[in-house]
Amino acid sequence: MVNPSPLSMPAIVSNPYPVYADLAEREPVHWCESLGSWAILKYDDCVAALKDPRFKAERMEEILSGKFSGRKLPAESIYHRFTKNVMMYTDEPRHTVLRKSTQAGFTNEAHAFYSQAIERVAHDLVASVPDNVKEIDAVPGLAEKLPVNAAVHAFGVPEEDLDVVIPRVVNVMTYWSGPQEQPLELEQLLEDLADLHTYASELVAGKRGRVLPDTVIARLAADLADQTEVTPEQTVHQLVLLLVALFAPTTPGSVGSGMLAFATNPDQIARFLADSACVENTPNEVVRYNASNQFTWRVATTDVEMGGVRIKEGQRVALFLGAANRDPAVFEQPNKFDLDRSNSGKNLSFGFGPHACLGRQIASLEIKWFFVALFARFPTIRLAGEPEWNTNLEFRSLRSLPLSLG
Ligand code: HEM
Repeated sequence: MVNPSPLSMPAIVSNPYPVYADLAEREPVHWCESLGSWAILKYDDCVAALKDPRFKAERMEEILSGKFSGRKLPAESIYHRFTKNVMMYTDEPRHTVLRKSTQAGFTNEAHAFYSQAIERVAHDLVASVPDNVKEIDAVPGLAEKLPVNAAVHAFGVPEEDLDVVIPRVVNVMTYWSGPQEQPLELEQLLEDLADLHTYASELVAGKRGRVLPDTVIARLAADLADQTEVTPEQTVHQLVLLLVALFAPTTPGSVGSGMLAFATNPDQIARFLADSACVENTPNEVVRYNASNQFTWRVATTDVEMGGVRIKEGQRVALFLGAANRDPAVFEQPNKFDLDRSNSGKNLSFGFGPHACLGRQIASLEIKWFFVALFARFPTIRLAGEPEWNTNLEFRSLRSLPLSLG
């Protein structure tokens, strides 16, 4: 019997980095049976794969058959219509057309507005902690609230609709975690996807709650009439993807792990407070130090040689972004949380190449303004108990972070 991969051991979630480092040294392209995939651990290999068209992003048929073997869905199923028409799971030339169709929401001018909105959101969130609170579980208390409030004020999700969107995204995200154990029934996934589509099409048609002006959704809705290269249904698919990305565990995961990094490295709080260059570098170093999306997927369209092994046509590869971020060939003393690091921005936490995260700037603004607000009020945060991690390595995030506020 083949020994199980150390990547499949649940215990590594709290600190996977020693396992990554050991594997990267011995077997940089490593077969992981529980993922049914090659794990790629070195920075240069991850970058090469993410820009190599021989690895396709279109992978959701494989994920479906891995998670629900024997279940076939008709081509007109919401599952196939969505995954074959959304930027994240399509390849060129369709990918570029779909991604370009959302550009009105992601211009420089739009980001300047989002920055101001997010700065206010972060300030109000930190200000909402009552004066008499000396200790807090900073995951539910802060990290999980930040992206929800930003979703309303910068993204434009109507506050009154949050209860419709969030539970459905939470369900969908259990499926999105690659070919692992699947707690959600396929019927439930299809129902949630269909509901999110109905919701998104009613939202842009002005039939749901009020979208705040100048937000991402307001800009995308205003641009609808000018869309000539995509169908109205494709526009709705992109909006559903954005809703999923918005309420995914990635932003709370980064904010939570960032608080843990600062609380256990108080010298870095001092650097943050002393030097505006450290403030600007905070989002980069926080996500480099702990990627909240530890790995992402591609499928080989032909045989490819990498790291001394032959990846066969049709096989899956998992690009370990979290391991690449600690590759000593790229990041000196990679296990040190260091705001003065000159190349933190080279991290792969937001992916790389054509599918690099569309929300990178928004997520970085959330991280930056959150820590500005936090340290303005609580400059001496420290750990007040054991942090607890969720069990999902792919979307790695804290469940609980007891902090003393000083
Ligand atoms: C810290 C927070 C976030 C992290 C760590 C993150 C991470 C990632 C990663 C790793 C990818 C590339 C996946 C791949 O190549 O397979 C990606 C793509 C994407 N992200 Fe994010 N993301 C974050 C926040 C957001 C937010 C807030 C949005 C919403 C605007 C967003 C929207 C997207 C979209 C639309 C794509 C697909 C881009 C494409 O395929 O062209 N992300 N993200």
